[in-house]
Amino acid sequence: MSITYRGQAAAAALGLTIDTLRRSADDAGLKVERKQTGASSTRVFRPADLFSIARWRATHHGPAPAKRAVMAVWNPKGGIGKTTLAGNLAVALALQGLRVLVVDLDFQGSLTLGFGYDSELTLEEAKAQGRPEDDVIEYHLGHLLPGADERQPLARVIKKPWGEMGPHLVPADLMLDIVDYRLLVETLSGAQSDLALTKWIAEGRAGKTPGCDLSIYDAILFDCPPSKNRLTRAALLASDAVVSPVNFEHYSTKALSYLAIVLNEMVEHYGRCPELMILGNEHDPQRVRSSMHVAAIAAQYGDALLAQTVRRSEDFPRALDSEPKAPLLLARPTSAAADDVRAVARLISARLGLFTAKGGSRTVEPQHVA
Ligand SMILES: Nc1ncnc2c1ncn2[C@@H]1O[C@H](COP(=O)(O)OP(=O)(O)OP(=O)(O)O)[C@@H](O)[C@H]1O
Ligand SMILES: [Mg+2]
Repeated sequence: MSITYRGQAAAAALGLTIDTLRRSADDAGLKVERKQTGASSTRVFRPADLFSIARWRATHHGPAPAKRAVMAVWNPKGGIGKTTLAGNLAVALALQGLRVLVVDLDFQGSLTLGFGYDSELTLEEAKAQGRPEDDVIEYHLGHLLPGADERQPLARVIKKPWGEMGPHLVPADLMLDIVDYRLLVETLSGAQSDLALTKWIAEGRAGKTPGCDLSIYDAILFDCPPSKNRLTRAALLASDAVVSPVNFEHYSTKALSYLAIVLNEMVEHYGRCPELMILGNEHDPQRVRSSMHVAAIAAQYGDALLAQTVRRSEDFPRALDSEPKAPLLLARPTSAAADDVRAVARLISARLGLFTAKGGSRTVEPQHVA
């Protein structure tokens, strides 16, 4: 079973009119499947088609990708929407035409699961169920970092659930905990393990790591666990921005002050920290306490609070229950909550200057659409 869209849902996912969607698909030379309904046939788009169209539009019409960025999604409070928003933002940025790599840093592998991969699935089970071998998770971030027992090329580690132009995933499984432990041991023996991901990205972008070319990615996102472990610290230090979800309730607002302390420590030790972007999640403007927290956060953190929030919507957990699994933006692109996430992604892209003004170009090679 795979996700398919008729014109209206496909256009909504890309923020285009149906006419522009059709024209872009034709101009890009994309072979879109047609389904016969009565005497006429209609186009049926798949997620991979949407990402290919988005990339084609960005590289041919602009606004073109202008700058690369790294983002960590983190708030030490658990269950606040980090994984939900990381997965949906990764999809939203790829639907803007960016090449995106999203890295699951939580050994629970929730993001991995939300992208359709069960880290407990064995090869034997996959075969017995008639599933492709690629559904099996064998490797995680630890296999990409120097010092790994079994270092692997990027191509063997990443998953591409929605094709080449969709977000690529570095999955997680229970063994990711060992990487965190290894970084801790390195730190205790005097190494600067907090810089592990900063170096990995710098070297991968510069083509200095054989088999791990990170230069193709416009955006790298880390979905951090709800703890300040070594991997989280390393991800924060490697990031240009930390997107921190809050649900406008006391615990998550309080967690922000803890996050601010971590960022200040980072400045003291390393002379830099990622830009804080506070993202209101599960927002319900009808609730008075919600509005109180918005005002308090705005007073304390000013512009760090993003003007766009994401509403509370059952569509998020519903997308998790749907089969095949996919973030809401792909599962139900016409949902009002999906609109919120797309608007947040536009805001973040603008803040980080990820795109040129319309028509401009970095040196992005137009890419072939399969
Ligand atoms: N805007 C929203 N409206 C309704 N439900 C939401 C919203 N955002 C997230 N959720 C739900 O909240 C639950 C927790 O979300 P999620 O797993 O993303 O949090 P998390 O911060 O990553 O958790 P953890 O700290 O364990 O990593 C999920 O069931 C998700 O579907
Ligand atoms: Mg999570």
